[in-house]
Amino acid sequence: MTQQEGYGQQSYGLLKGKKGIIFGALDDRSIAWRIALACKREGADFVLSNAPIALRLGTLDALSEETNAPVFPCDVSSDPDVEELMKKTAAHLGGVDFILHAIGMSPNIRKKKEYNDINYNWYQQTLNISAVSLHRVLHFAEKTGVLNDGASVVALSYIGAQRIFSKYSDMNDAKALLESIARNYGSRLAGRGIRVNTVSQAPTKTSAGTGIKGFDGMYTFAEMIAPLGNPSADECADYCVTLFSDLTRKVTMQNLYHDGGFVTSGISEEMIDDLAKLYSDRDSES
Ligand SMILES: NC(=O)c1ccc[n+]([C@@H]2O[C@H](COP(=O)([O-])OP(=O)(O)OC[C@H]3O[C@@H](n4cnc5c(N)ncnc54)[C@H](O)[C@@H]3O)[C@@H](O)[C@H]2O)c1
Repeated sequence: MTQQEGYGQQSYGLLKGKKGIIFGALDDRSIAWRIALACKREGADFVLSNAPIALRLGTLDALSEETNAPVFPCDVSSDPDVEELMKKTAAHLGGVDFILHAIGMSPNIRKKKEYNDINYNWYQQTLNISAVSLHRVLHFAEKTGVLNDGASVVALSYIGAQRIFSKYSDMNDAKALLESIARNYGSRLAGRGIRVNTVSQAPTKTSAGTGIKGFDGMYTFAEMIAPLGNPSADECADYCVTLFSDLTRKVTMQNLYHDGGFVTSGISEEMIDDLAKLYSDRDSES
């Protein structure tokens, strides 16, 4: 077994004694699901939360059993829901040392509305659920006193915040807002040693990911460009564990790329060769 193959199976005890809230596990492909398993492996206790409609699918019960974590319903676009969740969490765990925000949803993408023919009510829902919810979560976590000094908050983002991927439509805008809220809130919570970061994950085959038209093309493009290849959801989980741990106490207000080197790469040798072959085939056909 290589060192890489063994990685991810053994516990380093990095989150021993830590408590948290994990938003966004839907099924076993969800990045939040993989993060919950990694947090458990590293010794954390947490509560799981998702929208009531998602909980009706029933799959979260399996994760709840496996990690011994209660499930508290919460629609993150609702103030009363988020406040209630924070109160229930405080009653169950006391304070929390980490929060994972792994939530994204665009009705415009779901209903195949083009960006330049957008439905503005749905646009507001995209921004509210996928970005403003981070602000709401932090607001009520502070207000209810559930957020411990020295806590770490991570929200999952995508490079669509910086570079436009046309099929990602209004989610490009939502991720830009999400990253800005992380910086803005991070500066306000730093006095208590609380850090707030976003992790910009490469395309990953999950329910939300594959629901985007053209996802396969985006996935393959990133895989061909990134020198290390696309990271899996489990590899994202290991990275998030380090951010929740005490090893990263002075990292805050950052957007951290977890993309195998995609963001700083131009084009790969493999792609140059493929393109050269494509054009020489075309020339010989004409
Ligand atoms: N899959 C990818 O390619 C990829 C890449 C980069 C970033 N991300 C981000 O990772 C995060 C997790 O997505 P995923 O790919 O694991 O897909 P996923 O579908 O498993 O997770 C999205 C979650 O958001 C939840 N959600 C939607 N509306 C909600 C609401 N109103 N209240 C509470 N929860 C709600 C869903 O129920 C679901 O659990 C998202 O922020 C996504 O944008 C995904």
